[in-house]
Amino acid sequence: MTLLSVRDLRVSFPTSDGVVRAVRRLSFDVEAGRTLGIVGETGSGKSVTALSLLGLNPGADISGSALFEGRDLLTLGADEMRRVRGADIAMIFQDPLSSLHPYYRVGWQISEAIRAHARVSRGEAMSRAVDLLRLVSIPQPERRVSAYPHELSGGMRQRAMIAMALALRPKLLIADEPTTALDATVQAQLMELLGAMQEELGMALIIITHDLGLVASAADQVLVMYAGRAAEKADTTSLFYSAHHPYTRGLLGSIPGATGAGGRLVPIHGNPPSLINLPRGCAFHPRCEFAMDVCVREQPDLAPVTGGPGHESACWLPPEMVGVAPAVDDARRRHAARRGRASLGRPAPDAQTVGGAATHD
Ligand SMILES: Nc1ncnc2c1ncn2[C@@H]1O[C@H](COP(=O)(O)OP(=O)(O)OP(=O)(O)O)[C@@H](O)[C@H]1O
Ligand code: SF4
Ligand SMILES: [Mg+2]
Repeated sequence: MTLLSVRDLRVSFPTSDGVVRAVRRLSFDVEAGRTLGIVGETGSGKSVTALSLLGLNPGADISGSALFEGRDLLTLGADEMRRVRGADIAMIFQDPLSSLHPYYRVGWQISEAIRAHARVSRGEAMSRAVDLLRLVSIPQPERRVSAYPHELSGGMRQRAMIAMALALRPKLLIADEPTTALDATVQAQLMELLGAMQEELGMALIIITHDLGLVASAADQVLVMYAGRAAEKADTTSLFYSAHHPYTRGLLGSIPGATGAGGRLVPIHGNPPSLINLPRGCAFHPRCEFAMDVCVREQPDLAPVTGGPGHESACWLPPEMVGVAPAVDDARRRHAARRGRASLGRPAPDAQTVGGAATHD
């Protein structure tokens, strides 16, 4: 059953330098009880997408729809949205210190979150806060409930954030880079914890991350974002074994061992584009080793490819050119050569960009 259905989401920020087109015509679904991984490099619009769903992007121009159990989150009034936040949809923010208030004890913050949505006494809410800290494996929860955020380690603060997010047993939890800045062991423990919580509460999960390796173990579906748009969507297995979009292929190349290239890391060359002056056509073309003339002229939309059911990619390469094997890359290169190869990311910058982005966004 579909819990959240986002269609044609566009988010832009008017700034003194121009309009930042952070999210462009993005559509995706989240199924009840399942996990969607949203991946992409820095600045690809992952956090802006999540914050827009929760009404936390003041100053942004937002359009499209985001149906959550039939209600459009993008049109909810402030009071309704406050009720949804926490009780129906909870979020673990990228920076735990930004949502744990430094002046208040952790237990107080969790218990107040509970009391904001449920009629329970202070004592009852505090004892639930202790239970939640125990649930997220914080040692000595009776003592830690009285700690201030700065008295906890980074890993423990993340756990306290998870406890706060779980306080109201949400139907959907959005975890924005839940494990960045934590060491690998704590990362693994936290992901395990989230998985266990998901099973216990039956909640759906959106995991936002740079790290494709993380989604491999945790997600059922993956949405790859590039420059505010969906580059590729697939179930996790199809994405890992039958990637189509050269950007996804590049992300996979940066995971040791994923490409069968003997564990060699193959970084994607170049940098993400300016969201004020987006490249014309496919926004990835200046960095794409398979770029063709058509890629510079026209922006591809998501279309089905042969990796698996529901697998879609926004790329002009033929739909059957899926996979990360060297032979598939050769086929991509041969195809690009036949179709008229773009002069790879080397044209003068003003030939590549159209001020204020492609008009058909
Ligand atoms: N309030 C704002 N005003 C102007 N631009 C903004 C604002 N908020 C975000 N942006 C821009 O929108 C783009 C997308 O930002 P976003 O935070 O969603 O990226 P991200 O994919 O989450 O990156 P990261 O992986 O670094 O967290 C960035 O270029 C960012 O600078
Ligand atoms: S082949 Fe073309 S459309 Fe596909 S990612 Fe490269 S530049 Fe974009
Ligand atoms: Mg972010």
